[in-house]
Amino acid sequence: MPTEAPTPVDINLQRFRDISVVADYANTIGPRDCEAFLFATYIAPDSDILDIGVGAGRTAAVLAPLARNYLGIDYSEEMIEAARRNFPEYQFAVMDAADMSSLVSESFDVIVFSFNGLSFLHPDTKRLSCIRDCHRLLRQEGLFIFSMYNPYSLFVRPTRTSRSFVATVKALSLALQDNADRLFHRLLTRAFWLGHGYVRTSAHSGLTIFTASVSFVRTELDAVGFNFVADYVEHHPHRMSRFLTRWNYYVFRNLNSQPRNRQGNPSLTVFPAKLCSFILRAANPMHRLQRIWR
Ligand SMILES: C[S@@+](CC[C@H](N)C(=O)[O-])C[C@H]1O[C@@H](n2cnc3c(N)ncnc32)[C@H](O)[C@@H]1O
Repeated sequence: MPTEAPTPVDINLQRFRDISVVADYANTIGPRDCEAFLFATYIAPDSDILDIGVGAGRTAAVLAPLARNYLGIDYSEEMIEAARRNFPEYQFAVMDAADMSSLVSESFDVIVFSFNGLSFLHPDTKRLSCIRDCHRLLRQEGLFIFSMYNPYSLFVRPTRTSRSFVATVKALSLALQDNADRLFHRLLTRAFWLGHGYVRTSAHSGLTIFTASVSFVRTELDAVGFNFVADYVEHHPHRMSRFLTRWNYYVFRNLNSQPRNRQGNPSLTVFPAKLCSFILRAANPMHRLQRIWR
């Protein structure tokens, strides 16, 4: 019997079930600077918190102590096993973010989908289903905090672990590889020129990720009924060119109980409109480059 080719989302899930990938996440400790800033600024003590794509529990360590009730979910059983091993005192469940129908409406004050987890949902319908479900699960005034990969991220700076000669050479060679990979996989993509779309990365031996500009993310969440609160670059509070920003952080508030547009997907605009937009943008790349470089 012929076997079906795995879909891209299966490939992402396979990667996140791989024990060496799980071990990487299990060994990563503590929030990133911008995450620490977001959690301290936006999360009130004693909130009911849903932590989506919790992985091996990196964010649980920070969020659970702030929460009245905390639930961490992930669709990788192996990640959840690692999270339970690391934090046996907190509550975790295996659940796909594209189907959270088993959770009760308006039961959370804060939903966090950290470290670009939303970017791994494929195709668009799954990401939209997750965003709609987050809107349903949040109480009025509840906050949705997440990050999303940036389609304009073409370059990375070398990061070395020490000042030694070996560490410097290693950092330079990794950065060179990463920059070549980014240019190759991103510059000629629709995502780069239109400001949203899927791209391949070589991380964890190959993942498919959704990348989107700030304006695309705002339009998509606005259509579902969220109100934009703020966006921050990866390196916040430092400013950096969009070409060097790998992802952006977002905070949205649930103010409207009704979505403004039930279809709610700006990427579903009719094909001729997409084509015109693509031609117009592609026809004037220098103008586009000047606009997005800051
Ligand atoms: C980049 S890792 C981040 C893990 C963790 N949040 C951290 O920062 O260490 C993304 C996580 O999202 C999870 N994930 C991706 N798609 C998911 C989905 N559809 N439902 C639930 N979890 C998902 C993956 O299994 C993975 O653990």
